[in-house]
Amino acid sequence: MPDLSKITCIEDLRAIAQRRVPKMFYDYADSGAWTEGTYRANESDFQKIKLRQRVAVNMEGRSTRTTMIGQDVAMPVAIAPTGLTGMQHADGEILGARAAKAFGIPFTLSTMSICSLEDIAEHTDRHPFWFQLYVMKDRDFIERLIDRAKAANVSALQLTLDLQILGQRHKDIKNGLSTPPKPTIKNLINLATKPRWCMGMLGTRRRTFGNIAGHAKGVKDLSSLSSWTAEQFDPALSWADVEWIKKRWGGKLILKGIMDAEDARLAVASGADALIVSNHGGRQLDGAPSSIAALPAIADAVGSQIEVWMDGGVRSGQDVLKARALGARGTLIGRSFLYGLGAYGQEGVTRALQIIHKELDVTMAFCGRTQIDDVRSDILLPGTF
Ligand code: GLV
Repeated sequence: MPDLSKITCIEDLRAIAQRRVPKMFYDYADSGAWTEGTYRANESDFQKIKLRQRVAVNMEGRSTRTTMIGQDVAMPVAIAPTGLTGMQHADGEILGARAAKAFGIPFTLSTMSICSLEDIAEHTDRHPFWFQLYVMKDRDFIERLIDRAKAANVSALQLTLDLQILGQRHKDIKNGLSTPPKPTIKNLINLATKPRWCMGMLGTRRRTFGNIAGHAKGVKDLSSLSSWTAEQFDPALSWADVEWIKKRWGGKLILKGIMDAEDARLAVASGADALIVSNHGGRQLDGAPSSIAALPAIADAVGSQIEVWMDGGVRSGQDVLKARALGARGTLIGRSFLYGLGAYGQEGVTRALQIIHKELDVTMAFCGRTQIDDVRSDILLPGTF
């Protein structure tokens, strides 16, 4: 087991992940659409928000425990669904789910994961987890996927609404991370410099889209899988589909990708349990505001009717606290999770969660609060948000 005591912030994990993960997969995680302006703003807008330091307030008995859609969480953080997680580290989704379970926060599996729904259920003793769903044209496949999610003990479905078409990410195109994948010679040589990663991959059978391979009609090999996937995202997705999915699923439903108060009202009308203010980590509409900038108007509009969460740019517990102060009952971490995973597998994810928790706990105390449920916007300096 590596000694991670000198790993003190998410940036430490990011730098190690960048060394250990093959370039095409590291770049896939660490990129945004077009100019990456929205991707960068997701992080930098958090920095502009300043905290009010309070003193001589009793800091004993602190707690970051709260609930997200009624589920107890050790802190208001869940692991976000991220595609190709099992390419950052062999069996990445299983390792992430185990770390989240041990820490007491929810884990979300992506439709585009490498490990399947069944893999997660089997390797976490059927601990409940969340599943992110893309609406695909093959509605029979979606119905079966929802049934599989129920059988795997999924306790909430996250429906992504902002990926009817794919945003353009320059790095993926340049790296040949397209459908079908066409890795460049440079990238193949790069693989040879990552022996630890390669050994992990040789030691697992999970190297393709686990939720799709063997489950979609006509998908037999990597090439047919790639073209099926590329053609399947449904540009015609509408609120009627949200209604259909809600009915078919019948359980807790979370809508992901809301950036506008008007859409937030439609999300409330759909009867969903939570919405996630999200620009998909800056990977879709470059030029959209950062998630933290979009959050207050949405929380104001619908925060009393639905749980409002956010993701995008959360790299520290301070970010979690600021989001909470601005009306996000929960936050989701994508890259902060992937950096830990790419760096040190399950131990790295655990370390990322410990780092975020400590930053959250200590910052909350400096702001004069001992309970996360008592955090409001008055912990922030007026004029900075
Ligand atoms: C998928 O969700 C992606 O952003 O690549």
